Amino acid sequence: MELKELKEAFAKAYGQEVSGIYFSPGRVNLIGEHTDYNGGHVFPCALSFGTYLLLAKNNLNKWRFKSLNLPEIIEVDVTDQPAILPNNAWANYVLGVLAQFIKNGTKVASGYDFLIWGNVPAGAGLSSSAALEVVTAYAMNDQLGTNLTRTQMALYGQAAEHEYAGVNCGIMDQFASAQGKVNMAINLDCATLDFELVPVELKGMKVVIANTHSPHKLDSGAYNARVAQCQEALKQIKALGLNIDNLAQLTQEQFDAVADKITDPVAKKRARHVVGEVKRTNDAIAALKQGDIVTFGRLMNGSHVSLRDDYEVTGPELDALAEAAWKIEGVLGSRMTGGGFGGCTVSIVKDEAIDRFIERVGAEYTAKTGLKADFYIAEIGDGARKL
Ligand code: GLA
Repeated sequence: MELKELKEAFAKAYGQEVSGIYFSPGRVNLIGEHTDYNGGHVFPCALSFGTYLLLAKNNLNKWRFKSLNLPEIIEVDVTDQPAILPNNAWANYVLGVLAQFIKNGTKVASGYDFLIWGNVPAGAGLSSSAALEVVTAYAMNDQLGTNLTRTQMALYGQAAEHEYAGVNCGIMDQFASAQGKVNMAINLDCATLDFELVPVELKGMKVVIANTHSPHKLDSGAYNARVAQCQEALKQIKALGLNIDNLAQLTQEQFDAVADKITDPVAKKRARHVVGEVKRTNDAIAALKQGDIVTFGRLMNGSHVSLRDDYEVTGPELDALAEAAWKIEGVLGSRMTGGGFGGCTVSIVKDEAIDRFIERVGAEYTAKTGLKADFYIAEIGDGARKL
């Protein structure tokens, strides 16, 4: 949708002109899955698609929220303690961020009209909710003159997700949406929030995203259960006398030495994934810096296998896509990306193999699952901004 159309839609919904337009992107994670809330590294990129937010003050003492994908306008009285809206209303992501400004001592005293439109495929695991949170944090920071850093905006988004959506997520998605840079991946240390931007220079290759359109979605229950299982593993390992603050600090050797003593078999598998994934991620980043995409791709495949067997977050659709991709000449690596269950895979594919990839992976996927996959060539874009 063009900006002009968005402005017209705003005027039509609210009977006043828009005063600010903002954008924040979705993300794709290249490697480092379910490591963020364990203090490990992640390696996501911001995408060129994301969420647009238009706003203007109103004199009604109300926050009004409208998504262009839905007919209704949601209204909330301006208050210092916004209550969570019922039925998992999408506006909770915006409200949850407003609540963070208030909690941190900034009055959001005036009413605002908000209009939202996004072009991140819904339910694809490409972080449309993080994009909405971060665009809200960016816009309100601009409106309220709060001088937040981009990292603080990401933290506001994460807190909104915890408190208003009930998902105990890590920081990866919001961070990528806030700090993304065109043609760069973000090597983020989730324990310290230090990061570096690493150029994604894939000569003669592309990052291809494949959407399962799976009816299985990542739900907060399955996600929060993984977070809790990792905490349980950490607790058991610490009780064995190892002085660590998070699972990502465990080396493979340390883990192997204590693994048999972790009594909960599920916690043990989860920890094995995290320890392996932390190492794969660091090795993959080093390989990319040296231009060694073959190694990078091999580590991506290893990540998928570990997420399938030890973390158990892939499911038949993501497995079908990844396994079909692995058979194709010209595919350097392929894995699920994001939280899992449904959503997307990310693959690195040679330019000359892209047509073959889309055709064969698409056909094999449909034969196995009865579903139709969608393919996008990822464009790595910038993080949150005013338009
Ligand atoms: C979701 C969460 C992230 C991260 C990924 C898995 O996208 O929001 O914080 O944990 O899953 O890597």
